[in-house]
Amino acid sequence: MQLATPRLLLREVRPSDDLALREMDRDPQVLRFEHAPFSEEQSRSRLEQFIVDCPNPATSHNRFALTLRPDDQMLGWIALTLNNFAIREYEIGWTLHPRARGNGYATEAAHAVLRYAFDELHAHRVVAFCHAENQASIRVMERLGMRFEGRLRQVRWLHQAWWDECVYAILEQDFGAQSTHAPAPGER
Ligand SMILES: CC(C)(COP(=O)(O)OP(=O)(O)OC[C@H]1O[C@@H](n2cnc3c(N)ncnc32)[C@H](O)[C@@H]1OP(=O)(O)O)[C@@H](O)C(=O)NCCC(=O)NCCS
Repeated sequence: MQLATPRLLLREVRPSDDLALREMDRDPQVLRFEHAPFSEEQSRSRLEQFIVDCPNPATSHNRFALTLRPDDQMLGWIALTLNNFAIREYEIGWTLHPRARGNGYATEAAHAVLRYAFDELHAHRVVAFCHAENQASIRVMERLGMRFEGRLRQVRWLHQAWWDECVYAILEQDFGAQSTHAPAPGER
């Protein structure tokens, strides 16, 4: 299952994405906010898991590789995961390759994935969490129309320290109202 936007194609992750994924995983911003450096074994099993999480309405983990059309090169990823079946809540997350940042690709891709979540998966809420100091990610959430719901104190253990996380969310009615009043990212 693939999603197209004005500039991007979101496809499944493939074995040939190994190098791009490793480059993203050792990027300084990723290491600062997301995780410690991966071992060889962790990198290998991460790629395998990303491939297994092939986007599919029947699964609860959807991992999209972000590519710039018509090039097939992986420039980032978007994850959409079912968090709570009872309230139809999904969680979204993203990472861009450093050379792809500053172009609006994360926002454009995440917007398409939100549309998929609300229109195809009938999500009620989509939430996102980020390191409280991750301003670039917070700006993506705000551009998507996600609302700040709170700050979770010391829930992330990273680099031998506790860090706060911010939680943002968008509801199905927020997204519906936004879609009827504004063009989608990349459609301007
Ligand atoms: C978080 C992350 C994906 C954001 O990347 P990004 O490039 O800033 O986000 P976008 O692709 O939406 O691009 C938006 C930026 O491009 C600029 N831009 C340039 N051309 C644009 C266009 N045509 N349309 C929209 N924005 C455009 C915007 O002004 C904006 O910059 P600003 O935030 O400084 O104002 C990236 O910093 C990253 O991968 N970080 C490391 C991993 C990470 O932290 N992941 C999140 C975990 S919660």
